[in-house]
Amino acid sequence: MKCTRCRAKAEVELRAHNAGFCRPCYLFYFRRQVERAIAAERMFTHDERLLVAVSGGKDSLALWDVLAECGYATTGLYLGLGIGAYSARSHEKALKFAEQRELELRVVTLEEEGPGLAIPDVAAATRRVPCSACGTMKRHFFDTAALAGGFEVLVTGHNLDDEAARLMGNVLRWQRDHLARQRPVLPATHPKFVRKVKPLYLISEYETAVYAFMRGIDYIVEECPNAVGATQLLYKDVLNRLEHASPGTKQAFVQEFFRSGQPAFAAVENEEPQVCGQCGMPAYGTLCSFCRLVRQVEARRSPPGAAAPA
Ligand code: AMP
Ligand code: FES
Ligand code: ZN
Repeated sequence: MKCTRCRAKAEVELRAHNAGFCRPCYLFYFRRQVERAIAAERMFTHDERLLVAVSGGKDSLALWDVLAECGYATTGLYLGLGIGAYSARSHEKALKFAEQRELELRVVTLEEEGPGLAIPDVAAATRRVPCSACGTMKRHFFDTAALAGGFEVLVTGHNLDDEAARLMGNVLRWQRDHLARQRPVLPATHPKFVRKVKPLYLISEYETAVYAFMRGIDYIVEECPNAVGATQLLYKDVLNRLEHASPGTKQAFVQEFFRSGQPAFAAVENEEPQVCGQCGMPAYGTLCSFCRLVRQVEARRSPPGAAAPA
């Protein structure tokens, strides 16, 4: 196969795009895809300060690489989730990446933010699936770190596969409120929220893996140990099988949802956030989901009737 841009020998074939690329043209193609998403969705400008959430995985590091190369004002944010050796290794990868490129990385460690806030402890105390507790914790610390640092935008590395799997989960249960809020750009709907954007939302996991490989990015390959058996992985597997039979399925599913489905759900589900009675952050209900989790953790630490810890 020949490169679609320069006719040299192609190194990568992208069936969904009916295209192939040699290495230099692939790097050009990938950056252009990211820049197009940023421009088309008006995600941010060169004048804004971006906080890039990096997990040590390929997607977020590849994204940080592209944004830094394109001259955006970026700072990294790594959350230490306290998931044993997995967290230790992913932290190392994020640190090494930042050091090599002389980029600033901020680190927030959950267990230092409060007793019992490491993900395994929160999951045990609340009897929730770790990934669901983890989602709530991540969102909260993304928001507070962005707010505390005065950033205008929080950027995450969610890719096409993530968005397609999440969409499939939301559709299978017809979670209208979730469908109304699933978007590549979440505007700052409240003074304590910053804008949240996902520049890789139309780029597949395979494409970022190829980019990371070609750029020599050292990332954590293993999945989070809690992901084993998680429904997101099952949905990804199903979607990959559909994609294999019919290339382009994932992109059409996600792109068409954002174009026509999401606005229809948003039009009927326009619930504005209130203010959390505990921490003052935006909330759907009297407490935000983070404070509800923390209450459960605290209740487990000092059950009713037990003496309060000194
Ligand atoms: P995940 O929720 O693991 O699918 O990750 C989705 C995105 O969330 C990643 O691409 C990162 O941008 C961000 N993210 C996940 N884990 C972390 C972490 N420990 N620290 C900072 N950002 C993270
Ligand atoms: Fe959060 Fe796995 S990364 S539970
Ligand atoms: Zn709260």
